[in-house]
Amino acid sequence: MCGIVGYVGESSAAPIIVEGLRRLEYRGYDSAGIAVHDGHGVQVVRALGKLRVLAKVLEDRPLAGTTGIGHTRWATHGRPSEENAHPHVAGPVAVVHNGIIENHRALRQELARAGVAFSSDTDTEIIAHLVHRELQAGAAGLLDAVRRAVARLSGAYAIAVLGRDEPGVIVAARQGSPLVIGCGEGEMLCGSDIPALLSHTQQMVFLEDGDVAELRAGGLRVLGADAKPALRPRRHIDWSPVMAERGGYKHFMLKEIHEQPEAVAATLRGRLDLDASSVHPSEIGLGPEAAGALRRVYLVACGTSFHAALVGRYWLESIAQVPTVVELGSEVRYRGALFFPDDLVVAVSQSGETADTIAAVQTAKAAGARVLAVANVLDSAIPRLAHGSLYTRAGPEIGVASTKCFTAQLAALLLLAVYLGRSRGVLPAERAAEILQALCEVPSQMHDLLGDADYVRAVATRLVHARHVLFLGRGLSFPIALEGALKLKEISYVHAEGYAAGEMKHGPIALIEPELPVVVICPQDAAYDKTLSNIQEVRAREGPVVALATKGDESMHDLSEHIIWIPRAPDVVLPLLTVVPLQLLAYYVADRKGHDVDQPRNLAKTVTVE
Ligand code: M6R
Repeated sequence: MCGIVGYVGESSAAPIIVEGLRRLEYRGYDSAGIAVHDGHGVQVVRALGKLRVLAKVLEDRPLAGTTGIGHTRWATHGRPSEENAHPHVAGPVAVVHNGIIENHRALRQELARAGVAFSSDTDTEIIAHLVHRELQAGAAGLLDAVRRAVARLSGAYAIAVLGRDEPGVIVAARQGSPLVIGCGEGEMLCGSDIPALLSHTQQMVFLEDGDVAELRAGGLRVLGADAKPALRPRRHIDWSPVMAERGGYKHFMLKEIHEQPEAVAATLRGRLDLDASSVHPSEIGLGPEAAGALRRVYLVACGTSFHAALVGRYWLESIAQVPTVVELGSEVRYRGALFFPDDLVVAVSQSGETADTIAAVQTAKAAGARVLAVANVLDSAIPRLAHGSLYTRAGPEIGVASTKCFTAQLAALLLLAVYLGRSRGVLPAERAAEILQALCEVPSQMHDLLGDADYVRAVATRLVHARHVLFLGRGLSFPIALEGALKLKEISYVHAEGYAAGEMKHGPIALIEPELPVVVICPQDAAYDKTLSNIQEVRAREGPVVALATKGDESMHDLSEHIIWIPRAPDVVLPLLTVVPLQLLAYYVADRKGHDVDQPRNLAKTVTVE
């Protein structure tokens, strides 16, 4: 959580930093702050609340200078307040930090015993004091002081540091939390994520864990974990700056919902051969022989990515015929999950930085399992830890509620299932061709669905005043019911539950009444007749039904108050389609309620704490 940005160059630093923070605000938005070196010393401005509050303060009190660091916060240690906002200052040093310092209590006590007075409740302030003390103790400059200070820290951090005595220098360090360096023309930047830097440069350097880097307008110097100079290659990032803009949409979430046809198409591009009925996920690092020897697939993920993993399980078992387990990242360690060397552990994560999923990957690796990352952010922590990666190519996802990354994850998992099915000799070529053909048609079908967005908006008015909503689905539609409920609750704050339709009679049926809208995903698939019976059970108890039904299914008219039509498509790809109107439904309910859709309360896009 939290976003950090640094700039050193020839332009005025403050506006560039605020602009970078604006793109990172999805990571945290309870307070923000900035420190700029004005040629004489370090000036700091901080403000409680969203970034716009800080921007307003800066209008009244502009900061001059061409070197600076900034931060947008999601509180972990200490409540949201101006005192706890970053940057934190100790003597000549200012620090911004993303992550959690696990030994902060011991360090705080040690510093307090040495006479340090603290002005915040944060773990970050400790870093500022440690760097200051290293300078006092004779460190050979800011880089050396930061290197010595971070050696005392355990936990995860990405930091950027300014020092009064070194104008034109930012020192950055990372361990476990993301930090990217942007190399522009006569300027250097650092940031928690690629989109924060894209309007300046597409040339990026990804720091390794343990690296400490010195950024100057004219160059970058990196020391590795062994304190020796380290070469980190520059990489060209092919995300364009406009991808991180709202592009005329009211919210990023709405834009990202509409980008799904391209997100899916890009994820498939170059990875399948329809004529040969084959899939070529070259980066996964798992040849046909190793695929054949697998005993089990173990999917780990959190939140929306967990729902993608649940769909993936259906595909892996039915298409690749490989026993598959799905587990929440946060539960893996606590239930003593067993991993084996012939397991393929697939970690699904949009950000690639989710702490719970990382912890699960580490547990699996320690047991000798092979790990495959399905991630959207290049070079993020999970792909770094994994033996192979199958990147989704959804482009930057800014809205906190995940949408296009979910459908891109589904596309990647379906490719994986076909690849494993073919490699293991259990999937006939004709069936593989049917699945791949259906998958290739998804982008244009999504396009058609998105053309009906206005109708979904009208249906959303029905749910605006609901206090609770139930989502039902069977088979492949069950994880989509879970996802529909998650989307609604996280941005509209309406209590929603997703249930397997077959489970309704085991309890939730007691809730059915005229005030409880029930959204039923009921395409004409293998589970159709059974789900239809569930709709009848809801109607018999006067529950209002919003049905997602296959275009042309006339029987639905008598059973539902509202029908959202889904294009006719093979069962196997239906989850990629049925989820789209549910995303729109959640969006329009939240928007009608006037909520901040892209930055819902209490949430952050990247959850780097356990
Ligand atoms: O980056 P990840 O995919 O690992 O994130 C997992 C969850 O935190 C994420 O999906 C979260 O549930 C979203 N807010 C859902 O919209």
